[in-house]
Amino acid sequence: WWLGIILVIASYVLGSVAFGYVVARAVAGIDIRNYGSGNVGATNTWRTLGWKAGLIAFAGDFAKGAVAAWLGKLWGGPAWGVALGIAAVLGHTYPVFLQFKGGKAVATGGGVLFALNPSITLLALGIWGAILYISGYVSLASLIAAACTPFLLLMFEPSWAVRIFGIIGASIVIWRHRSNIQRLRTGTENRIGRSGKRRD
Ligand code: G3P
Repeated sequence: WWLGIILVIASYVLGSVAFGYVVARAVAGIDIRNYGSGNVGATNTWRTLGWKAGLIAFAGDFAKGAVAAWLGKLWGGPAWGVALGIAAVLGHTYPVFLQFKGGKAVATGGGVLFALNPSITLLALGIWGAILYISGYVSLASLIAAACTPFLLLMFEPSWAVRIFGIIGASIVIWRHRSNIQRLRTGTENRIGRSGKRRD
């Protein structure tokens, strides 16, 4: 149990490393929070600094979620994979290094899901890609893919712990997209290819 608690804290700290923030500091010397949507995530890094920087941010944020959940699963089974995965997601959304103002949990949550159930992750990615293609809104794609995930897990995933992760993860993603939902409703959300002007 003590080791479990230490691993949860370590996952939270690992999750707190917002790769979009780190990449933007490293390649352009800027604080990504002052640009585009103001988010530290991969989407805003790509929007502000191009696809290469965005891809690195995505890979880093995805990998930290996947590593945390995978180590947890290896150490104590699916429930511990879920516990460490949620800790990493909470680190990303409420990072200790950025005054607890972090990202929207899509890449990190996707990484956790990938370690727990790769096939459902690919299905959710397919939904995400389709909605992005149709609408041009990354946020709408993230919201719909997140909302579908708990249902996909209920249908195809036997572990209750992983199913519960789907519900918690989707709730965090939707909660963190409040400002996007507001902008989608008012027709002012950033579309792909256009640079954002507002901050969250
Ligand atoms: O992954 C976050 C994405 O869904 C929205 O990001 O920067 O457009 O608010 P952003």
